[in-house]
Parts: sequence; structure tokens; C-alpha cells
Amino acid sequence: MMEAMTMNAAELTSRFRIAGVVEFAETEHGLVKATVARAGMTGELYLQGAHVTAWQPAGARPVIFTSSRAIFAPGKAIRGGIPVIFPWFGPHPTDPTQPQHGVVRTAMWQLDQVEQSAEGVSLELSLTPAGFALRYRIVFGEELQLSLTVQNTATGAVSFEEALHSYFAVSDVERVAVSGLEACSFIDKTTGMQLCPPAGAPLTLSKETDRVYLNTPDSRAINDPGWGRRIVVATAASASTIVWNPWPEKAAAMADLGADNWRGMICVETGNAADNRVHLPPGGTHEMTTRITVDAG
Ligand code: BG6
Repeated sequence: MMEAMTMNAAELTSRFRIAGVVEFAETEHGLVKATVARAGMTGELYLQGAHVTAWQPAGARPVIFTSSRAIFAPGKAIRGGIPVIFPWFGPHPTDPTQPQHGVVRTAMWQLDQVEQSAEGVSLELSLTPAGFALRYRIVFGEELQLSLTVQNTATGAVSFEEALHSYFAVSDVERVAVSGLEACSFIDKTTGMQLCPPAGAPLTLSKETDRVYLNTPDSRAINDPGWGRRIVVATAASASTIVWNPWPEKAAAMADLGADNWRGMICVETGNAADNRVHLPPGGTHEMTTRITVDAG
């Protein structure tokens, strides 16, 4: 991976701070985070992994779930928020010594630009893992907009998987329904990667769920009657939707999640994985976008 020009919180403050709107701080373990606030909306981003850990529109409950046991330390993936998964999803296809979910979620991204506009506060980051140039634009506003652009900088054609591994905060994972995936077949990772036919009905969860839905439409929603709201995830150039909740037994085995945390989260991830991996010619680019909004349902 090429060495990014990384700045500490003081340097970021002098270059990008917008007083009261975008502030930078160093956490006790030496990670740098940006906090964003405008007109009642708040958000938070760690430069390690370009990892969004919070977003809360004005007057709303938190939309993004970050585990109360998450570990914020160099080289450690943060449990919750929106990890960026690239260039492989899940275990590496051939090399078990490689990290799960790729190499960018614990890498130090470079912050290139911070701007305010009518739609919100945008932060643009970049990273150049071997053979690729990545750009990631995040807009914190009344919507949360995320846009990941991948360029193939190698001399030959490549393919990759990617995901914005979004953890959403819900009242009770057993009482929410995910709509938009009714007509899609899926790979069930809990049953040895079995390919399952479309269910024809909104998804409700009653056990460990780990599914890669294929060829998914551009909109899906998490209907949460317990909190009287709906989280809508509208995407572009994302053909896969991954739905995950580990359920209590597996959650208990994860030190950074724990048996008491699983009920308040559901991952509904924007991505291109498995059969939907992306193929790029040399110099080619691909941009995947997701827009998250909240309404009364
Ligand atoms: C999901 C995968 O996206 O992420 C699951 O489908 C995986 O299989 C989960 O367990 C969490 O992964 P990690 O590496 O953050 O523990």
C-alpha cells in the first residue's frame, strides 16, 4: 500500500477545521476522528478505515449503530458504524493469512477536502491500495450520502468485491422487517453458501442471519415499528445487499460486541460481492453510491 500523507489532529485542524461544524480530535489510543455538527445534525468519522461511526439527523435517534464495546485502536477494525470493505468480501478467496473483508478498513486514509453546501458537510478521502486508487465522499446532512469510487491503476484488467458494511440502530432486530429484497435470490452463509430462491416477502429475522442477496434493486428499507420509523437505503451501482446479525451466541463470542448488544443492530450493507463482483479494465473506474434517509414509514 502506498504511504498516504497522514496528518495528526492538530494539522487537520489547521487545514480543514470549520469552527463548530467540523472539529478534529485524537482519541486516547491515538486515532484521529472528525466530528461534524450542523443545524442539529451530528456525525462522526475516524480516519482509520474512513470509518463513519455516527450519524443522527436533527431530532432523530441515532441511525448508525456502533458497539458500546468497540475498540478504537490502531490496526483494529471498529465494531459497528460503516466499515469500508475492499477488495474482497469475507475471507480472502485463496490466502487464509489475509485479513477478513480486505485491507482498507484498518488503513489510514488521507483527508483531501472538507466543504459545506446546502446538502450538508462533505468530507473527501483517498487511499491507494496496490493496483487501485480509491476516493470516498461522505456527506453528513439530513441524508447520509456515501460514494466510493474505485479506479484500476494496474496494467491489466482486475476484479474486486466491495461493501459499505452499514450497521443500523434498531429498536429490536426481531421486530424489524427489511423490504426491497423480496424478489432476490441469496447466498446463505450460515448454511455453507447455499444459493436460496427469493422469499417473496419482506425479511424478518429470528435466528443468526448472514446473507448475500444478489442483483438487488436500488432501494431497500428497514421498517422499525418499535421506534416508529423507516430507514431507507437508496443505492446506485450496488448489485448486492448483505444482511447480517450474529444472534446472541456468536455475538457473545465477539469481545467487541457482546451478548447484550446484538438486539439493537442490523447490518444491511451496500455492496458488490460474490457473483456481483466488479470487473474493471486498466484505467477503468466504478462508483458505488448509497443515500440513507429516515422517515416515519
Ligand atoms: C458480514 C459477513 O458482512 O460481516 C459475516 O457476511 C461476518 O460473515 C460479518 O461475520 C462481520 O465480520 P467481521 O470481520 O467484522 O467480524
